[in-house]
Amino acid sequence: MMPRDDDPMVEQSAWAQMSQDDPDHSAAYVERFRTMAAQGADLAGEARLVDALLPRRARVLDAGCGPGRVGAFLADAGHQVVGVDADPVLIEAAEADHPGPRWFVGDLAELDLPALGIPERFDGIVCAGNVMAFLAASTRREVLRRLRGHLRDDGRAAIGFGAGRGYPFDEFLTDAEAAGLAPDLLLSTWDLRPFGPDADFLVAVLRPIPGRDR
Ligand SMILES: C[S@@+](CC[C@H](N)C(=O)[O-])C[C@H]1O[C@@H](n2cnc3c(N)ncnc32)[C@H](O)[C@@H]1O
Repeated sequence: MMPRDDDPMVEQSAWAQMSQDDPDHSAAYVERFRTMAAQGADLAGEARLVDALLPRRARVLDAGCGPGRVGAFLADAGHQVVGVDADPVLIEAAEADHPGPRWFVGDLAELDLPALGIPERFDGIVCAGNVMAFLAASTRREVLRRLRGHLRDDGRAAIGFGAGRGYPFDEFLTDAEAAGLAPDLLLSTWDLRPFGPDADFLVAVLRPIPGRDR
């Protein structure tokens, strides 16, 4: 898995485009979250939901992990965490701030952890912080297909992103189904408020459709 800039065959994500337009974008993002952490802000809401989904000492993939705040909480809770993000600046921050999990630079559209020596599938996958909405539209189904392929048949994926970001929720759910992921539970917040037609956020807890992992 390589950062997207090295692979002209894969369309660049909106995040990579922002980083290209503003070279300080990624460093500023890191600093923003470091400041919030230093101020004692609660940065673990998504991770608490994911922890509740998992058996103890589970294997978790933090997909689009950024500087690692979600994966770090899950590692502290005793899980084995692998984080993957396309932005090398954010992965460098994750490595510096949160030793323990294994952090990799990589594009989710090319996710292939067995090729990196991690053959075991995951009990849980978390994709927080609007990652889905930052993906290049042409890669969305492929990313979901690869996430499905890295999930155990009895595992679950929790994916959250906001409305009005160019990826309508019904389109996302259609793409997930095509990728072999069916909704177990739809919420409108990471603290378990129900999803409804007026929701401005979706947290989808998805289960693998058996036999649909390739
Ligand atoms: C707003 S940040 C969220 C980071 C982290 N999940 C969190 O909640 O703190 C969005 C992340 O999506 C990542 N991202 C976007 N497209 C990606 C792709 N195709 N492959 C891997 N990461 C991607 C970006 O690099 C960025 O770290």
